[in-house]
Amino acid sequence: MDKFVIRGGEPLLGTVHISGAKNAALPCMAAALLTDQPVILENVPQVRDIQTTRNLLAAMGAEVELGYGRAHHRTSIHCASLNSPEASYELVKTMRASTLVLGPLVARCGRARVSLPGGCAIGARPIDLHIKGLERLGAKINQEHGYVEATAARLKGGEVVFDKITVTGTEDLLMAATLADGETILENCAREPEVGDLADLLNKMGARIEGAGTPTIRVKGVAKLNGARHRIIPDRIEAGTFLIAGAMTGGDLNIAGCDPTHLQAVISKLHEVGVKTRSNGDSVRVMGDNPFSAADMGTEEFPGFPTDCQAQFIALATQAEGTSIITENIFENRFMHALEMVRMGGNIKIEGRRAIVRGKTPLSAAAVLASDLRASASLVLAALVADGETIIDRVYHIDRGYERIEEKLKDVGAQIKRIGEMFPKKAVAAK
Ligand code: UD1
Repeated sequence: MDKFVIRGGEPLLGTVHISGAKNAALPCMAAALLTDQPVILENVPQVRDIQTTRNLLAAMGAEVELGYGRAHHRTSIHCASLNSPEASYELVKTMRASTLVLGPLVARCGRARVSLPGGCAIGARPIDLHIKGLERLGAKINQEHGYVEATAARLKGGEVVFDKITVTGTEDLLMAATLADGETILENCAREPEVGDLADLLNKMGARIEGAGTPTIRVKGVAKLNGARHRIIPDRIEAGTFLIAGAMTGGDLNIAGCDPTHLQAVISKLHEVGVKTRSNGDSVRVMGDNPFSAADMGTEEFPGFPTDCQAQFIALATQAEGTSIITENIFENRFMHALEMVRMGGNIKIEGRRAIVRGKTPLSAAAVLASDLRASASLVLAALVADGETIIDRVYHIDRGYERIEEKLKDVGAQIKRIGEMFPKKAVAAK
């Protein structure tokens, strides 16, 4: 298992280029299941979740080509025929977003069999709202042996009101509705930019979707969708992570190739704590030359502060003057990183959904464990300002969603290196 070794204390200086959004690429790849023609996606990040989705689609009979060389961010997916509309437990357990295939499969093939995700590091994460929505569109649902099976000769348009805002739930139903018979109205939808990106691709494929990016989405079902070519939007979470990293390290970092309009909540919070930023077209410069102060923050659905940047904000709060109260409103158990930061010297108390962070505390290097994707990113940030050499174990979590993070960080001055197994397996076995 790879580890990162990070020596803290260097300000991040220079320009970092943002990759395509993993969370937009995943549903767009699933959307290719809706047509027998090729879908070509550009700006797909080369991260492990994309590889997992490739395996998932290939197991169903899709031809998935990941580009090489200069085209290495292009992925073409051709689902001419789908012989096995199924997502196995083996794949769903490594990536919960695999459940995104449920809607498109039942819409295209009339049936789908998808493993139910279990609990995960950040909470229960059920998919009951996906299932309820599909039932509203006429699918028959059967749950047994840890799998959900959905069948429908053809889905029928209907009204779906989500009890709770769900990003992948909105995307799953949106895809299902494109091929349903008649009009579907989705209410209380997620407004995340990734939903809008998926709707753009689907409309290019011939779908008739209006209102993506608002709470109400209307879809007029069509009989067939076509292939299309589409460029994935920039990753706002990767951009947010680098913005916070630039601020924390007292750096001067230009975050290039992002969409500042998707980053407003993070940028406003940085301004509130006293960090300067300047947006210019598709880049944001963060100037961390001033000491910054504490601020309370609560995660919310878009356009609020993203839960996927909460862990990184806690890392920043350990270096702010004063006490910050951070409330996690989306997931029930998303503070694993805080406990690791305490081991590095952070003064953080967890009370239910709240983390109380008292700054400013010097952080000292320690051996820490990455527990999930964004938690790992926050530990990298903490390590960048810690005294000494931090070793972060289980960085496969970070590889799920950040493209070449250690190279990008190194390019802007961080002292970080990736190491493989510390001891060869044989030597351990010989003991
Ligand atoms: C997506 C993102 C993830 C991000 C999250 C919240 C992708 C691939 N992943 O995850 O990075 O952290 O949005 O912004 O885009 N819920 C239910 N029943 C359901 C579905 C969700 O109760 O059927 C609950 C969840 O447990 C959670 C809340 O709704 O408390 C929001 O979850 P949701 O928006 O669905 O998260 P994901 O789409 O899984």
